[in-house]
Amino acid sequence: MKPLIFSGSSNTHLANEIAKELNLHLGKVEIVRFADSECRVRIEEDVEGKDVFIIQSLADPVDEHLMELLLMGDAVKRGEARKIIAVLPYHGYARQDRVHRPGESLSAQVVAKIIESVGIDKLITVELHNETILGFFKIPVVHLSGLSIFHKAVRELKQEVVVITPDAGALKRSQRFAEGLDAPLALIEKKRDLNTPHKLMSMRVVGDVLDKIALIVDDVIVTGGTLVNAAYLLKEKGAKEVIAAATHADFVGGADKILKDSPVDKIWVTDTIKIPSEKYFSKLNVFPIAPTIADSMKKMVK
Ligand code: R5P
Repeated sequence: MKPLIFSGSSNTHLANEIAKELNLHLGKVEIVRFADSECRVRIEEDVEGKDVFIIQSLADPVDEHLMELLLMGDAVKRGEARKIIAVLPYHGYARQDRVHRPGESLSAQVVAKIIESVGIDKLITVELHNETILGFFKIPVVHLSGLSIFHKAVRELKQEVVVITPDAGALKRSQRFAEGLDAPLALIEKKRDLNTPHKLMSMRVVGDVLDKIALIVDDVIVTGGTLVNAAYLLKEKGAKEVIAAATHADFVGGADKILKDSPVDKIWVTDTIKIPSEKYFSKLNVFPIAPTIADSMKKMVK
C-alpha cells in the first residue's frame, strides 16, 4: 500500500520535492491559524491502516511549527494510521542539548518527549547539533548527514582545503567531514557569553590556514555571527578564501545582510529550512536535500 505524505507549513516546497522524488503527491491537510494565534489542523485523507509521513522543519517560528507537527501527529493517530513517521529536516531545540547553568530546562529532551507523546512511531532528521540527543528518544531515530552533500563541490575546487571546525563541540562532525575528503583540520576555539543570547566572547584559530581555502563546516547558521567572526580571523591568519558549509540556514534578523557584506567568500547550505527569496544573495548556494531524505523514506516502506 502506498504511504501518505503530509506537510506542515514550515517548508512545503521541500515537502513537495521529497514527494516528487517518491513519485507521490502531498496529502490534503487543512491548517488554520485563529486570530488569537491558536492552530487547528484537519487531515483530509483516509489514513486508516496506512504508513504516514509528516514533514515539518522545526525552524523559526519554532514553537508554532512544533505545535503544528504535534497536532498533525495526533490527528493521524486518531485516524488509525498503521505507522507515523515524522520527518524533521531541521530539528529545532536540538542545540539546547544540555543544562549549561543551574535552573535551565533540558529543552531538547522535553521536545523529544512531547513528540513521542502524540504517537509518532519513528523519526527521520538531518544534521543534529549533537548526536547525544538521540538518547532522549525512546522511538527509533534515523539521523542523516546533510554535510556529505558538499563533498562533491569541495572536490571540484581542486585546491588545497583545510576544514575548519567553528567550535570544539563540533569537532566530531568536522573530523568526519575532513576524513571524507582526506583534508587537514583546524579548530576555532569559541567562547559564548551564556548570559547574553548569540553573543560571542572570544575566538582563536588553532592550526595552519596560510594560503589555503578555509572551509568552515557547521550544522546551522542563525545570526551569522559565528561564521563572520571566524572568517575575519581566518583571513587575518592568511587564508586565501573562506567558504562556509552548513546544513541548515535558519537566517534570522539580518543574517543574510551580515553574511553578504562579510569576508566569507562563499556560503553553501541545503534547503532543510525555507529561505525566503528576499534573503538570497550572490554568495549563497543552496543544495537540495530532498533526494537524501527521500532515499531514507523509501527504505521504510514496503
Ligand atoms: C553552535 O554551537 C552551532 O553549531 C552554530 O555554530 C551556531 O548556532 C550558529 O549560530 P550563529 O549563526 O547565530 O552564530
